[in-house]
Amino acid sequence: MRFLAAPEQGIGQFLDIGAGLPTRRSVHEVAKLVNPACRVAYVDYDPVVVSHGKAMLAERDCSVVVQEDLRDPEALLSNPEIRGHLDLSQPVGLILVNILHWITDADRPRRALGVLRDALAPGSYLVLTHMSEDLIGTSDIDAAKRAARVFDTASAQLWFRGRAEILRFFDGWQLVDPGLVPKHEWRPGPSAGASIFDIAYGGVARKP
Ligand SMILES: C[S@@+](CC[C@H](N)C(=O)[O-])C[C@H]1O[C@@H](n2cnc3c(N)ncnc32)[C@H](O)[C@@H]1O
Repeated sequence: MRFLAAPEQGIGQFLDIGAGLPTRRSVHEVAKLVNPACRVAYVDYDPVVVSHGKAMLAERDCSVVVQEDLRDPEALLSNPEIRGHLDLSQPVGLILVNILHWITDADRPRRALGVLRDALAPGSYLVLTHMSEDLIGTSDIDAAKRAARVFDTASAQLWFRGRAEILRFFDGWQLVDPGLVPKHEWRPGPSAGASIFDIAYGGVARKP
């Protein structure tokens, strides 16, 4: 958020899809540290998340919380609350953090990303993280697969992808340095400890 909101990138509005339950340092809180005038549309398909979000994240003139589904990007993009809050003729920061590994190939996540990419103005940015079995050591892979099975009977199933597949989500975008890397290696701040490790890849890219 700090990178996108910085004057060089100049992103002042954000579309955070799969926003999740409110926790510390939400998107608008971090972006506002750099750009106090920023606007954020938080989107989630889970009504419980949306109801908590409306209570805790919605701030007048700054953030709205909307129930939509990434798998139906046309409906999401035409949602009147999102359209009223964000100016889609101007660059947007599209935030897809820890959501795509909940969407199976059958739900065509690449199609959804293509629709969103085409709808956003040049100069927009994509922030994407995705869990990957490539980052799980061979000694841990069986345990990870067993853990993932916990979600077999949940409302969404965990869908690991390899780095090459995750990279294809950036089709039509230009990755900024250092590219698609283990998330904890993406421009770690001074407070990042050496012991931090993550099994997700993360990347940031610009729409030319
Ligand atoms: C692991 S949480 C991530 C929350 C936040 N982005 C973060 O990284 O802290 C994933 C969120 O994505 C939401 N989600 C999953 N599939 C979705 C979909 N198809 N459309 C919108 N939201 C979805 C879930 O309801 C959940 O709140």
